[in-house]
Amino acid sequence: MTYEFEKDHVVTIKDFSVEEVKSVFDIAEKMIPTAEGEEKISDLEGKLLATLFYEPSTRTRLSFEGAMKRMGGRCIGFAKPGTSSAKKGETLADTIRVAAGYADIIVLRHPHEGAAQLAANFSDVPVINAGDGAGHHPTQTLLDLFTINEEKGSVSDNHIGIAGDLKYGRTVHSLTNALSMFDTELTFISPPSLKMPDEILRELEKKGIPHKEVEGIEEVIEELDVLYMTRIQRERFPSDKDYEKVAESYHIEKEMLDRKDTKEDLDIMHPLPRVDEITADVDSTPFAKYFRQAANGIPIRMALLKLLIEG
Ligand code: NCD
Repeated sequence: MTYEFEKDHVVTIKDFSVEEVKSVFDIAEKMIPTAEGEEKISDLEGKLLATLFYEPSTRTRLSFEGAMKRMGGRCIGFAKPGTSSAKKGETLADTIRVAAGYADIIVLRHPHEGAAQLAANFSDVPVINAGDGAGHHPTQTLLDLFTINEEKGSVSDNHIGIAGDLKYGRTVHSLTNALSMFDTELTFISPPSLKMPDEILRELEKKGIPHKEVEGIEEVIEELDVLYMTRIQRERFPSDKDYEKVAESYHIEKEMLDRKDTKEDLDIMHPLPRVDEITADVDSTPFAKYFRQAANGIPIRMALLKLLIEG
């Protein structure tokens, strides 16, 4: 089987065609037994992944490293910039040029929007954006789409509600960009101060994707096929005072799900980490898909590493 995938780097999901998304899904599907430890492969034996993480991470870093190791590859890198030469004042461009000399592929997470594009400009090896400030998080989006496809049979023909911090949340910026490639209906749920940026909404208008904005989850939950919750991105607020004004704006709890006439197959997703947006009593309901979603990070990232390294 031949796959359509012509990329040197993965910086934003906007660079993907629907065919490329499907190629990633096809390979990810085949990777599941290896991702779960039931089969062994050595496709990336002798290859080295550098994970350069200038911001905290649990899932993204561990699943990239796990994906690399499941395919026989190895990893180097740092999880805190304080232990790298960034502390001595080295520029990102220099760090990238050095890491490109050591490794076959680089995964970068950085607090500045545009950092991944800059890294791609300076790297001779593929760079994958694992989150650049409030900008983009394309690999999270691929696993989000993969999860929706797995649960619903297709990404298209779903009404998807996206709730929480739509201003600073990079996962929802990338997800909305991606959903505009499919035939979906979108509802954005946020306080007025955390609305989806106009630029992204304009893009939806241009593409004719039906969408609306509301302030409360309860107003729309009964219409939704998927509810994508997010954390308020405290670290991106100008001050703690600004954060306090919107903290705890949104909660999903079992009591609400019991009370509301939600669709039986509503899927509740979350990129995680959650703070208090979804109470623990939701975890045991059939709606909770967020841990399954997180597990999908391994096969999706295996597929991406393979496509980018093997070229
Ligand atoms: C997200 C991120 O880092 O943007 N986490 C993740 O990668 N799964 C979401 C968040 O931090 O809220």
